[in-house]
Amino acid sequence: MSSQERSGAALPKSPSEWTVLALLRWTTGFFQERGIDSARLDAECLLAEALGCDRVSLYVEFEKPVMASERDRFRELVRRRAGDRVPVAQLLGRREFWSLDFEVTSDVLTPRPETEILVALAIDRLADAESGSRVLDVGTGSGCVAGAVASELPGIQVVATDVSEAALEVARRNIAALDLGDRVQIRAGSLFEPVAGESFDCILSNPPYIARSDAGSLPPELSHEPELALFAGEDGLDVIRALLGQAWNHLNPGGQVAIEIDPGQEAAVRELFEGSGLSNLRSLRDLSDCPRVVTGTRT
Ligand SMILES: C[S@@+](CC[C@H](N)C(=O)[O-])C[C@H]1O[C@@H](n2cnc3c(N)ncnc32)[C@H](O)[C@@H]1O
Repeated sequence: MSSQERSGAALPKSPSEWTVLALLRWTTGFFQERGIDSARLDAECLLAEALGCDRVSLYVEFEKPVMASERDRFRELVRRRAGDRVPVAQLLGRREFWSLDFEVTSDVLTPRPETEILVALAIDRLADAESGSRVLDVGTGSGCVAGAVASELPGIQVVATDVSEAALEVARRNIAALDLGDRVQIRAGSLFEPVAGESFDCILSNPPYIARSDAGSLPPELSHEPELALFAGEDGLDVIRALLGQAWNHLNPGGQVAIEIDPGQEAAVRELFEGSGLSNLRSLRDLSDCPRVVTGTRT
């Protein structure tokens, strides 16, 4: 039995009859067989990219035949998605975060929806703050957190740091594309090295937090993301431990730290917060109701 028959969406014999809908159905079945969770969504995103239109436009073009040159482009995208397991964001070169478009390459983590919790928290805290309030984004990657916070809060200044020069190149382009270069400073270095002697009203971080020992059981897509963005020692807590060891010294009185975590790390991270002298600890939950961000304040 061919893969088309198994997925129940065989393509017509003649390629000239391959319509948008026929290609979507076939590709969805093919991706499902390959174990890709978001099969239909991925098929739509890649076909829209090959056709040079947005995803919603596909729905009014279902019966339109797809031209040979477009089919070639689509075939290559499908091959890289299903064969090499390249994430869709890297194939498209962009990902939406906080309703803003961010360039994505293999040098940065693809922005994830759960990280928007950090942005919401900063907005909640600083919406009524004095102009000139300062936010630090440690491990900025694509610059998505720094860019989203700065775009929502016109009165604040943001410093965004990362150890990866390659990631910072992408962050610089994203911040420039958002026209935020006058309020978001990008600096290279580990943790607080680039902000020695400076303090902030809010410190945000989505650090690497995967345990090295989990490396063998991760989805294949993660092999396309930078190791520096993923792993943090044997228990996944090396960067969070180091960050919380120094955070108090870089907070203004009343300032807040918020760190994204793996849900299984909540108890250990809360203990680290307690040891760091921060109080008013809270855990914020993601859309799956899992603890995703822990926050504390320098009271
Ligand atoms: C999980 S990614 C998060 C990227 C981005 N903030 C986001 O949420 O999409 C972690 C980032 O931290 C950076 N990083 C790793 N260790 C670091 C360190 N010691 N100091 C500063 N940045 C670090 C990585 O290069 C990576 O860009």
